[in-house]
Amino acid sequence: MAVARMNMNCSIQSSLSCILKPSSFFNFRTTHFRNRVFPTGNNFVAPKRSLLCTCSSNGNSNAFQTGEKAEPFVVTTPLYYVNAPPHMGSAYTTIAADAIARFQRLLGKRVVFITGTDEHGEKIATAAAAGGSGPREHCDVISQAYKMLWNDLDIAYDKFIRTTDPKHEAIVEEFYSRVLANDDIYRADYEGLYCVNCEEYKDEKELLENNCCPTHLKPCVPRKEDNYFFALSKYQKPLEEILAQNPDFVQPSYRLNEVQSWIKNGLRDFSISRAAVDWGIPVPNDNKQTIYVWFDALLGYISALLEDKDQPNLQSAVSSGWPASLHLIGKDILRFHAVYWPAMLMSAGLSLPKRVFGHGFLTKDGMKMGKSLGNTIEPNELVDKFGADAVRYFFLREVEFGNDGDYSEDRFINIVNAHLANTIGNLLNRTLGLLKKNCQSTLVVDSSIAAEGKEFKDTVERLVEKARIHYENLALSSACEAVLEIGNAGNLYMDKHQPWSLFKQGGDAFEAAAKDLVIILETMRIIAIALSPVAPSLCRRIHAQLGYSEDQFDNLNWVHTLSLFLNIVKTKWGGLKGGQVMAQPKPVFARIEQIKENENGGAEAPKKVVKKKEEKATGSRGDRSLGVPISEDSLPLIEISLTLSIHHHDDTSTAIYPRVSMLRSCISGMKSGVCEAISEVYVW
Ligand code: MSP
Repeated sequence: MAVARMNMNCSIQSSLSCILKPSSFFNFRTTHFRNRVFPTGNNFVAPKRSLLCTCSSNGNSNAFQTGEKAEPFVVTTPLYYVNAPPHMGSAYTTIAADAIARFQRLLGKRVVFITGTDEHGEKIATAAAAGGSGPREHCDVISQAYKMLWNDLDIAYDKFIRTTDPKHEAIVEEFYSRVLANDDIYRADYEGLYCVNCEEYKDEKELLENNCCPTHLKPCVPRKEDNYFFALSKYQKPLEEILAQNPDFVQPSYRLNEVQSWIKNGLRDFSISRAAVDWGIPVPNDNKQTIYVWFDALLGYISALLEDKDQPNLQSAVSSGWPASLHLIGKDILRFHAVYWPAMLMSAGLSLPKRVFGHGFLTKDGMKMGKSLGNTIEPNELVDKFGADAVRYFFLREVEFGNDGDYSEDRFINIVNAHLANTIGNLLNRTLGLLKKNCQSTLVVDSSIAAEGKEFKDTVERLVEKARIHYENLALSSACEAVLEIGNAGNLYMDKHQPWSLFKQGGDAFEAAAKDLVIILETMRIIAIALSPVAPSLCRRIHAQLGYSEDQFDNLNWVHTLSLFLNIVKTKWGGLKGGQVMAQPKPVFARIEQIKENENGGAEAPKKVVKKKEEKATGSRGDRSLGVPISEDSLPLIEISLTLSIHHHDDTSTAIYPRVSMLRSCISGMKSGVCEAISEVYVW
């Protein structure tokens, strides 16, 4: 039996007929309540437009658009609750959205990447009170914490909307009035079990023992209120039709099934105001109630589109880019985005978003990581320890987008070391080292000439195209994998051709070796483009090592040739030209080292994690130090790190050993020159 019970101000007989026949219920309500509850004088009539979504999934579209007039690619993250500072779960959606936005920009699209904070409602007011501050002050602080984290994680958003922004409030009021004018709002009593953390009335069937919310594991509280309701039930049929006609509207497909089954089980009207909550936007014409936080926050996706110069009205906002191309959300808020939101938009006569993608959860010990459960990972700590590229790469590569994924520090370190430090970073570094030693860091021929008649070039082009298709399909982990395959292919090529031996032979062999290096460096150029949505700073450093300027990186485009006839977009081989001088080789991604400290009577010793500093793309190129203060404490770490490096570079170990012994003698005597020696080893 459902706990929630709606007490209409009407007879039992009418109530029964409402439950049995939602359409008659709706008719009854509109004729009996509208005029009584709302003052007359609101003559606004929502424009009658097609209710059906004009979905065009981006799936395999090869559209290449430029210019202001082109339809923008609008991608949104949820607007995060400011009850507490961000955690890794909240950062996850934003990292994914940023990678998608960066990829779309590389395709030449005009992108509007929207994120922001959800600042109204009971949950926020309670958090502010608990922290001893007023809600506005509290929201300012936490909202700022989100912005700072996005900055640290290299998130390049275009719009940051706060739901306490007066422009947003104006949009919500106008939207509410449209829905009201469409006869979709009525007043009724409601009694049910409320989860404050979800900000949602729950059905008893969904709850665990003691009426606990399955997401937050906290008991839901009984509530009885006199509220305004949105006539969701009226949109059951249109929603069914939209989902049937646009199967890509909700993704992944297993989430679509979930949504379809909710709708099939019957949609119930939901309450869109709160009588007991002050911290919110007042209901137009009834300031004793505030608008339900979800009815308010979803509108942030539209109000975010307003330009500073715009009047805060729906028309201006909508004309700046609505409908959104993609709402990225976690699976827990799917019902709001795939059921409530489309119905609200239909009611207001606005277009529906093109796609809603519900990803999985980051879990810790199998439980959703969250502020309410207190089992979070601090993204700031991860970024401080490992850097933004490692954090972004790990979560996008390791968690298949759509599924849940568990975090473990060991796995994190293994993955980023193997992929970013070894496969990519070391390939670049040793190639540049060889080029410096044998060719004065200068490319001997154009990369297109170097690769003539070589299958390797086709392999790289095939893999980069594979990566593009995966990005288009939001298969971010597979996109990373395709890029990594390019790196693996490069390493195999080096192992097979052994340019270090060819150089020693001289003559034609020397020439062949010089061309091999050009081929690998062109491969690195392509990797720098293809991985830049995921690891932008790392790719900037790779690009800088290839002798390009910062501006050239900022103007990179996935597309170098566009064959509209064949409808093929390719990242073309052949960007690097003969005569181009490479930068001084510097490590672009330093390995993370795990060192056991204080081995103690067999007990698990605490681990210390060290990441050497990689060379920044900007900054003094001539500086040979690694930026690590060398103290007596750090010397054992350097020793171990060198030993590990040697194990990973079999082919280079002969060259490294003399330098290592020089370094060891420097270390033992703490002589100056230690930085120089370390740098030399890395250069190799
Ligand atoms: N304020 C609402 C969204 C309103 S959108 C108009 C909200 N906020 S939230 O801060 O609770 O969650 C924001 C997003 O973070 C949701 O998509 C949620 O799924 C996501 N995550 C929160 N914890 C998460 C994990 N542990 N893992 C992955 N994502 C998770 O809901």
